[in-house]
Amino acid sequence: MQTIGVIGAGQMGAGIAQVSAQAGFRVILADVALDRAEAGKAGIAKALARLVEKEKIAEDDRDAALASIEPVGSVAAMGDCALVIEAATEREAIKRAIFADVGKVLGADAILASNTSSIPITRLAQAAPDPARFMGVHFFNPVPVMGLIELIRGLATADATVAAVEDYAKALGKQVVRANDAPGFIVNRVLMPMLNEACFALGEGVATMQDIDLACQLGLNHPMGPLTLADFIGLDTCLEITRVLFEGTGDPKFRPAPLLVKYVEAGWFGRKAKRGFYDYSGAVPVPTR
Ligand code: CAA
Repeated sequence: MQTIGVIGAGQMGAGIAQVSAQAGFRVILADVALDRAEAGKAGIAKALARLVEKEKIAEDDRDAALASIEPVGSVAAMGDCALVIEAATEREAIKRAIFADVGKVLGADAILASNTSSIPITRLAQAAPDPARFMGVHFFNPVPVMGLIELIRGLATADATVAAVEDYAKALGKQVVRANDAPGFIVNRVLMPMLNEACFALGEGVATMQDIDLACQLGLNHPMGPLTLADFIGLDTCLEITRVLFEGTGDPKFRPAPLLVKYVEAGWFGRKAKRGFYDYSGAVPVPTR
């Protein structure tokens, strides 16, 4: 059984660890401190318990998946991983420091992949131990529910690296798409302008927050309206990716909506901050405008 290393036990990292364990991989789940990695595993235990309750998986499968996840407080334990996926905070300096650390223990054939949603893979590869064995593997939130993984190769990524990560992604039961290393890859290149435009529309008084969301939800058959989805992703993340599109292409069509900037400057980052376009402090989200 192959061992997968996951660095970062937050929402994305825990999701990646969960689906990898459910697919039969042994998983080493690392965060900056052991208690954070253990908290990530505790969240996975809850998610798996819900799946047992709903009779989607058997208790034995839950137990096997949980037993195969080892939480650790440093990347030093990743020496026998065939693939290490970095799903840490979306800050380049943090990712570079992680790559330097994991580079000290990574096996000669092991692959390092980043779950970055916006940082150029070719640039990140410069900090990786071997750019030929480095690429982007972009999961979507919530990882256990979303059926897609974007695979992004940098200039130096070897064909064998892409093929191995594609095999892993398919073993998780996900569909894969291959994207070139262009700002936003595929999904965020298309999604972020829509979310940003919803912010322009709200700021310009085109409609109320609820009507913008309802219009897109029902008129486009999307599971969530764009403002709800922006809150779900995190308004800081949406702004960060929009800026990558704007700066990476130099095209003014990607300029961030002033209202999005204002919400981020206010610290209203969305669901995780309990306040974004909606207020999440009560049982039901309430529009804030
Ligand atoms: N983890 C695991 N399962 C979850 C979950 C989570 N966090 N949230 C919901 N689910 C499951 C539920 O258990 C439920 O499962 P069953 O049908 O088996 O009972 C199913 O998903 C539907 O959930 P709900 O009935 O509670 O609610 P819903 O129908 O509104 O679905 C949703 C919730 C799946 C999040 C749905 O609203 C959705 O798909 N929204 C859009 C999500 C999206 O676009 N994600 C991509 C964001 S972009 C990104 O991630 C990349 C980036 O770089 C920014």
